[in-house]
Amino acid sequence: MTDAHAAPGPRIVPSVLPADFSRFGEACVELEKAGVDRLQFDVMDGRFVPNLTFGSDVIASLRSWVDLPFEAHLMIEEPDLLAPGFVRAGCELIIIHAEATRHLHRSLGVIREAGGKAAVAINPGTPVEAVASVLDLVDLVLVMTVNPGFGGQAYLASMEPKIARMRELIDASGRAIDLEVDGGIGPATIAGASAAGADVFIAGTALFRDPLGLEHAVSDLRRRATEARS
Ligand code: DX5
Repeated sequence: MTDAHAAPGPRIVPSVLPADFSRFGEACVELEKAGVDRLQFDVMDGRFVPNLTFGSDVIASLRSWVDLPFEAHLMIEEPDLLAPGFVRAGCELIIIHAEATRHLHRSLGVIREAGGKAAVAINPGTPVEAVASVLDLVDLVLVMTVNPGFGGQAYLASMEPKIARMRELIDASGRAIDLEVDGGIGPATIAGASAAGADVFIAGTALFRDPLGLEHAVSDLRRRATEARS
């Protein structure tokens, strides 16, 4: 008999960063067919991170291609200005960085007032305590396992104690908050992140570069994350 309130199983969420942007819509359809749980769009402004990607108009153009939920990972300075636009573009979850705003509590409120679910990300150098006082405002916390800006970087296993600490804080809050990790997640690293307490896994390179294809990559990662919890 499964508990109806049991925590959901591991979620596998692709970063679309490695996708072929000349056929972005088709790539989203292929990811949906491969069984991913939702799509993450890496939004970069060239200031908060040394890379530049796309804005809300690009995401809006993709909304009708698939039924999957969208989340926007805003690696941008001063996210208050642009965050509502990503909700309007069809993203149900908006992730901002604790390091990118002077007033994190207010910035998360801006997202919620715009009708989105709010989430906060912390870089490898930022302690979990930086988000302890805003857990009542978020549906997800993202612990970065690389320094943000580029796909294909090496997973920072040194973040696993931090993931475990974040898991303790979330469990102590009694709130249904997802613990997401992002960066270098693949067959060799997902078990460590899952065992440490993560339940949502962002993967870019590991999905798009699997020689056996997207569907295999998604199911293999999900199996490895599940086995690591038992
Ligand atoms: C970093 C990016 C990457 C990307 C995933 O700013 O957010 O972490 O989503 O990259 P992979 O899975 O290729 O490490």
